[in-house]
Amino acid sequence: MKPKATSRLTIRRPDDWHLHLRDGAMLAAVLRESARHFARAIIMPNLVPPVVTAEQARLYRNRILAALPSGANFTPLMTLYLTEETDPEDVALAHADGIATAVKLYPAGATTNSGSGVRDFDRIRPVLDRMAEIGMPLLVHGEVTDSEIDIFDREAVFIDRVLKPIRKKNPDLRIVMEHVTTEDAVDYVRDTHRNLAATITTHHLIINRNHILAGGVRPHFYCLPVAKRERHRIVLVQAAVSGDPRFFLGTDSAPHADHAKLAPCGCAGIFTATNTLSCLAEIFEAAGRLDKLEAFVSINGANFYRMPLNDDRITLVRGEPVIYPATIESGEGTVTVFDPGFPLHWRAET
Ligand code: DOR
Ligand code: ZN
Repeated sequence: MKPKATSRLTIRRPDDWHLHLRDGAMLAAVLRESARHFARAIIMPNLVPPVVTAEQARLYRNRILAALPSGANFTPLMTLYLTEETDPEDVALAHADGIATAVKLYPAGATTNSGSGVRDFDRIRPVLDRMAEIGMPLLVHGEVTDSEIDIFDREAVFIDRVLKPIRKKNPDLRIVMEHVTTEDAVDYVRDTHRNLAATITTHHLIINRNHILAGGVRPHFYCLPVAKRERHRIVLVQAAVSGDPRFFLGTDSAPHADHAKLAPCGCAGIFTATNTLSCLAEIFEAAGRLDKLEAFVSINGANFYRMPLNDDRITLVRGEPVIYPATIESGEGTVTVFDPGFPLHWRAET
């Protein structure tokens, strides 16, 4: 007799180890979508102007806390935006004071608001050395920006040209490769047994480059790093459902108003905060690995960050397809919620 399909799944409350909340009206609109399900999130610092100093991170954290819906139980974990002028001592103090959990490295020009990022990686050596001493993680947007490198190759080239040299010079630095999209990155993380982990987004587990480009261009699937071939997506799913502690969820949920996405030069970013858990449960179920969902969303990341696991639980219930809003209003314009292209049967109880 076929075993009864699981219809309820209770797991520790999840965390999101890579999230864009923005500021102002957009922050107020999107924060509730993450706070509904997630206990903690690593907050990206690519605001305009970027969150570079400890003081800026403290003020941004205050704005996030002030924007939380009443009764919400959500902890923003702040990051500092690394520039060539970043002061190692400011970083160390921010870490010691609990203001900043990690530092984010954007190669200049790699993505949204990365203009103040790093051009010359030798100039950030003193900061990286200090971070290694204090055990503070470096979060890496792993793409080269050279115009002659094909956009689909930028992650693989980054590993060879930038990441390997950084790790060779500084093997004690703890690094998270953010939003990995390639087999090359998954292999690199798997083959490295110390101080290296990777986040995987919800959308990169679902879309490949055909979803963006075949049969018409779909701006709502455009993000950076851009989704790759199907064979890469399959490897990402295998890594996510494997239970390997080096892979964990970072949604990279990145809201942009539709007018900014549906433009001649549309912004990169996919907004998944609203239905991420439903999407992930569907993927893990399809892979026959629902038992590994908790490791991916609630355990592996906390362990890498050396933080306690969340004590409270969330229950996912399987039933009729979930109705979720196609868009949310942000005060800066409508934001489209990620459409995975298949029905979602798992609803997270709130
Ligand atoms: O698609 C993306 N959107 N990738 C990033 O790296 C940044 C993000 C954003 O801030 O919109
Ligand atoms: Zn991001």
